[in-house]
Amino acid sequence: MRKNIVAGNWKMNTTVPEGVELAKAVVAKSVEVPAEVGLIVAVPFTHLTSVASVLSSRVELSAENCADKAKGAYTGEVSVDMIKSCGAQWTILGHSERRQYYGETDEKLVEKTKLALAAGLGVILCVGENLEQREAGKHFDVCESQIKNVLFNFSAEDMKNIVVAYEPVWAIGTGKTATAEQAEEIHAFIRKVLADKFGTQVADNTTILYGGSCKPSNAKELFAQKDIDGGLIGGAALNADDFIQIALSF
Ligand code: 13P
Repeated sequence: MRKNIVAGNWKMNTTVPEGVELAKAVVAKSVEVPAEVGLIVAVPFTHLTSVASVLSSRVELSAENCADKAKGAYTGEVSVDMIKSCGAQWTILGHSERRQYYGETDEKLVEKTKLALAAGLGVILCVGENLEQREAGKHFDVCESQIKNVLFNFSAEDMKNIVVAYEPVWAIGTGKTATAEQAEEIHAFIRKVLADKFGTQVADNTTILYGGSCKPSNAKELFAQKDIDGGLIGGAALNADDFIQIALSF
């Protein structure tokens, strides 16, 4: 059966020394979390090596993005092999902030996902609608097309190393969480889209995380939903107590 995971996305926050302190605090408190709940911290590229050196095997490490090319003359980009060589096991891909501000397209995400999987990195693929799309009732269509455009290029075997994160853009950093019902409705829908393509077993084994103003006060209700298998946590992941409190909410 699928794994429950709580992943922290630090985004562009903390200096390296601050990040190392935060990672140490997460590791120290991670002993409170039952072993069956996976813990991941996704950190800026600059932090990967230093954070890797203080993590225990209990807390896995993720990048927040990767290049869509393997290597070469791509100034400023960071390849999957570089990420892997820092000690990371995962990368987030397709975060709405990258789609919105950095022109991330589904086509690029296919390339990035191929490279990440080939390098042995697990992928946390983010999908989700913005406010305008939600208000127009297009949230199912948006999530379906993001899933189809990217994940339908991969195999059932590949899906073992892919986690989906549903992050409604209107709930990210706004303090406005999707209700447990709103989130569950989309999670169940995403699982059905996956089942139609890959079969029920693959869909049932795929971890689907919720992200968007998830915090200690609402995590329990969200994680109690049948198809919500944990969270991708932004702001609250910058505080080790809150992050671990969320991980204790299953
Ligand atoms: P917040 O938890 O700050 O809303 O961010 C969610 C997110 O974007 C995680 O990737």
